[in-house]
Amino acid sequence: MLFMISMERTLILLKPDCVQRRLMGRVISRLEDKGLNFLAMKMLQVTPELARQHYVEHIDKPFYPALEGFITGSPILAAVVEGPEAIRVVREMLGATNGRNASPGTVRGDFSSSRQMNLVHASDGPEAAIREIDLYFSKAEVCNYEPTIRPWLRATDE
Ligand code: PPS
Repeated sequence: MLFMISMERTLILLKPDCVQRRLMGRVISRLEDKGLNFLAMKMLQVTPELARQHYVEHIDKPFYPALEGFITGSPILAAVVEGPEAIRVVREMLGATNGRNASPGTVRGDFSSSRQMNLVHASDGPEAAIREIDLYFSKAEVCNYEPTIRPWLRATDE
């Protein structure tokens, strides 16, 4: 039987702690080493309005003011990453939300001991990915390309 693995796009944010701690390159390298493809990337300062749009489902939670203060406190790097089952794969590579609960070998397990300062955000499902990519990038900013190394990363049916 032939299985076609779904190619997915996901939004990642390298949060202020990741930028300030000079961990951007190491996180990007891990995702590239996995075979994921970067389609868009930019640094920006998140405004309170963008933070409210991004974290709309958390606005009424008690931690929201701290989360907004953190994410707007210093520049971030936003990126669109593509790959087979990229949404799940990236979240598993990041590990549990709270760095203290994240498994060794994951980004948070290796570099974070905090729930708030957990270094990287990644979309948690297909609808969130579409919504979040649209929040940070215009269509023209997302590059559509097939990496030339593609035949050496996966079989033709995946
Ligand atoms: S929840 O309540 O289970 O839906 O929240 P969760 O999915 O674990 O986390 C959603 C995002 O909120 C951040 N978060 C916090 N920030 C500051 N303080 C506290 N206490 C806190 N709890 C959760 C968490 O890092 C998630 O951020 P993202 O960017 O989505 O990873």
